[in-house]
Amino acid sequence: MELFEEKFTESMSSKVALLNRITHFIVNRKGKQMRPMLVFLTAKMLGKGRINERTYRGASIIELIHTATLVHDDVVDGSNRRRGFFSINALWKNKIAVLVGDYLLSKGLLLSIENEDFDLLKTISVSVREMSQGELLQIEKARTLNITEEVYYDIIRQKTATLLASCCAIGAQSVRCNEQEVKKIHLFGELIGMAFQIKDDLFDYGEEKIGKPLGIDIKEKKMTLPLIYALNMASSSEKRKIINIVKNYNRNREKVLELIQFVKHKGGLSFAKARMEDFRKRALELLFEFPKSEYRDALELMVSFVIERKI
Ligand code: IPE
Ligand code: IPE
Ligand code: MG
Ligand code: MG
Repeated sequence: MELFEEKFTESMSSKVALLNRITHFIVNRKGKQMRPMLVFLTAKMLGKGRINERTYRGASIIELIHTATLVHDDVVDGSNRRRGFFSINALWKNKIAVLVGDYLLSKGLLLSIENEDFDLLKTISVSVREMSQGELLQIEKARTLNITEEVYYDIIRQKTATLLASCCAIGAQSVRCNEQEVKKIHLFGELIGMAFQIKDDLFDYGEEKIGKPLGIDIKEKKMTLPLIYALNMASSSEKRKIINIVKNYNRNREKVLELIQFVKHKGGLSFAKARMEDFRKRALELLFEFPKSEYRDALELMVSFVIERKI
């Protein structure tokens, strides 16, 4: 990871002073770096402990694209905090955040093109498309407020799980695994991605300090799994009342607190936790089809981290 960080920092550099200031800021406030870790661990598990330059580039490409999507996501969500500090849009405004996001995206794609890693480029490009689609589907549903459990899974698969799937696939591709292995480990990544986003959506209902705003989903009319389940369990008059809060009182503190109480009372949080556990179980079943090794054990720990993490 130390070596990775050096390469990652270098992959962002620019001659434009303003841009360089911002990329420095980004590098100094790094996140959990789960995605590059996934790239390295899958590569090591499938490459029998051996990784190469392609693995490092794959990890950088993924983290560049991830960073780009976070910078854009905070613009889209109107969020002013990220990683325990101000977001890029809060510090430099939307105009600059949009352009910095584009810059990071292009740097990620170019890194694979310049090194002719076209197999990696193909994998990551599918995720880039899916992330945009997922975000737009989410906006569509925040307008119509008719989201179902199935559509919710479709959204989180596209906006989040696809990138974790790409981490694992790229790790495998970097050590030249066959198509079948790549496919299998891609699905493993997707399953942990699903659990990961359910966890993220659960945070929004909690009080734990996680370095980004809480209760922002309802503010943005984003209906996530706990609320979807609670609504399914509600009478039609309760349903009307809650939908009315999301639609018209989504910025009213008291009303939002009432909604949170309703979700808890209907068992929405426990339901979401149970679904998250289902995804964990499916991910582990798949992982255990690979022979045991220290790298597989590490991946098993990563799966637990996704579910038990406090940030
Ligand atoms: C945040 O991802 C975006 C989601 C998909 C919820 P992370 O929580 O992995 O972000 P960092 O990189 O650790 O900040
Ligand atoms: C995460 O979206 C997925 C992407 C960044 C595309 P969210 O809006 O749910 O994530 P956070 O909570 O801001 O990290
Ligand atoms: Mg957001
Ligand atoms: Mg968002």
